[in-house]
Order: sequence, then C-alpha cells, then structure tokens
Amino acid sequence: MKASDDFIRRLPKAELHIHIEGSFEPELMFEIAHRNGVHIPFDSVEAVRAAYEFEDLQSFLDIYYQGMGVMLAERDFYDLTMAYLRRARDDGVVHTEIFFDPQGHTGRGVAFETVLNGIWKALRDGERTLGITSRLIMCFLRHLDEDDALRTLDQAMAFRDRIAGVGLDSSEVGHPPGKFERVFTRAREAGLVAVAHAGEEGPPAYVEEALDLLQVARIDHGNRALESMALVKRLAAEKIPLTVCPLSNLKLCVVTDLRDHPLKRMLEAGLVVTVNSDDPAYFGGYVLDNFTAARDALDLSADDIVTLARNSIAASWADEVRKQRWLAEIDAMAAASI
Ligand code: HPA
Ligand code: ZN
Repeated sequence: MKASDDFIRRLPKAELHIHIEGSFEPELMFEIAHRNGVHIPFDSVEAVRAAYEFEDLQSFLDIYYQGMGVMLAERDFYDLTMAYLRRARDDGVVHTEIFFDPQGHTGRGVAFETVLNGIWKALRDGERTLGITSRLIMCFLRHLDEDDALRTLDQAMAFRDRIAGVGLDSSEVGHPPGKFERVFTRAREAGLVAVAHAGEEGPPAYVEEALDLLQVARIDHGNRALESMALVKRLAAEKIPLTVCPLSNLKLCVVTDLRDHPLKRMLEAGLVVTVNSDDPAYFGGYVLDNFTAARDALDLSADDIVTLARNSIAASWADEVRKQRWLAEIDAMAAASI
C-alpha cells in the first residue's frame, strides 16, 4: 500500500539535516536586504529562484554563501529561524536538529553571539508557540583550516549549554574528515555529540574517517558508502543513522534521476536511514516534499515511510520521554492504516 501525502504529513517526524541558512527563501532575503540597506544583484524573487541551477556542491555553495551575506542583525537570524520552524511545523515536523555555519557570518564581521542569539530566541519561541522541540548543531566549514574551527569552538564554549553537537560541512572533496580530528576531539571532550557530512561527493574512505577519527554518531548524506560492502555492513551493525536528502542530491547532481537514488537500497541493506531537506529554499522542497518525491520515484511502501519516520525520531537527540511518545503515535497510526 502507498502512503498518502496527508498520512505522511500527520506522522510525527524529526528533521535531522537542515542548514538554517539554507532555508533562506528569496522573499525573506529581499525583505532583510532592504531593511539592512544591502544590495542584491537580482531584480526580483523570480530572478533569484531562476539562478538556482547547480551542477555540483560547489556551484551551490557559492550562491549559498552569497545569500547569507545579507544577514547582519540578531533579528535577521530570528526571522530566518522562525520562518523555517513554521514551515517545518506545517509538514508535521515535531522535532528538528538545526545546523548553523557560524564561520559563514563571523568571517564577514557578524559576531558569533548575534547569530546564536537570533537563532536561539526563535527556537525557544518556536517551542512555546508551535510545539517544535529542537537541538542546535554547530558546523565547521571544511574548506577553512582547523585553526579557524578551533577558534570557533572556543567562541562557542561561552554558550556551551545551547549547543548539542558539532558538524562538518561545505566543500567535501579535498577536505577529508581527518583534517578536523583535533577540533572534534576537543568538542567531544566538552560533551558535544559529533556528526559530519561524508559520502555526498567524497569517497567511502571519508565516511570511514568520520567514524574512526571524528567518532561521529551520525553520517550526513552517506550516499557513497554504498560503494563499499564492508562499510555498509559496518554502518548496519553499528546502527549509524544516515541523514539522507533526496531533493538535494538531485539538485546537486549527486544523482541524475531520483529513480536512481540510493535511499531504497539503503533501507534494503538495513541501514538507519532518515529523510531530510538539507537546504530547502535552494533545492525546491521541505521535508514533506522530500518524502513524497522519494515515495513516488522509488515506489516506497507505506511500511517504508513508517520506517523512515520511526528512524528519524529514534536517531534524534530529543528527550527520551518525548521520543517514546512519538514512536507510539507512529505505531498507532501505522496500525490504524492497515
Ligand atoms: N553539503 C555540504 N555543505 C553544505 C550543504 C551540503 O549539502 N549545505 C550547506 N552546506
Ligand atoms: Zn547538508
């Protein structure tokens, strides 16, 4: 049986791979640029959207860093985050674990606390008014050097209680996880949980490095792990969750057709797969769009959809009581739909 859009929307879901700066819709970009007196080199929202044609990760990142450049004040980060939370709530997201890229802002003169305060206040208001719980994951930009990441970790330590984990993003190939071993060790010693993008464009060896050298609790993307049977077996045995992003993979040409997307093969291999939006404003869809596109392209069954929703909750860092409640709700919905 197929899962309807409405059934998928109503399933409690956690989103575990969302770059908050990647949820920056052109409408809000224009609004913020206008109030900050910053020029955007496009005439209209439509012209911005039309520029979102990417051939690989780097061609996207160039536009992504340019887009975030209009954000200067705490209020900008608040508005960005609140807009995402509303949109996620509409898709039935009950819990979200948000990446942010502090170096994308401190590198152009915006203070770390300006970024963090804006995001943090929105997360608190979002929990109160929308009922969405959340965790924050601070990502290091892997195209920069490790000393820059170490300085960023030092800045974050003043706000240790607001940050749950550290991640690794930006240009993958040529910047293997091992480049960041020291900063990840320090972060883990401070009690932060580690995750890393690996195997989006990089080889299976990068996924192994993320596991062995960074000791990550989850792998973000992980597509190319499927090239190594030994690695697939290890990911399954160790129950390492993968935060997979189908529409992102399509837009960044990681796959040329969604029908070739590895999500279904990952499920068949017994991997703990989750579905996420990555950078929804740039890739043409939020989490529900990713579920429905994957369902249609890969002919996913209602059981597959339920498994994906269960995985998202189980792989999250939400508090245990809530997790058990959401899992029970998913099971009740699955039982009622048979
Ligand atoms: N991959 C790597 N870095 C990123 C991405 C991504 O999909 N989105 C934002 N930063
Ligand atoms: Zn990502």
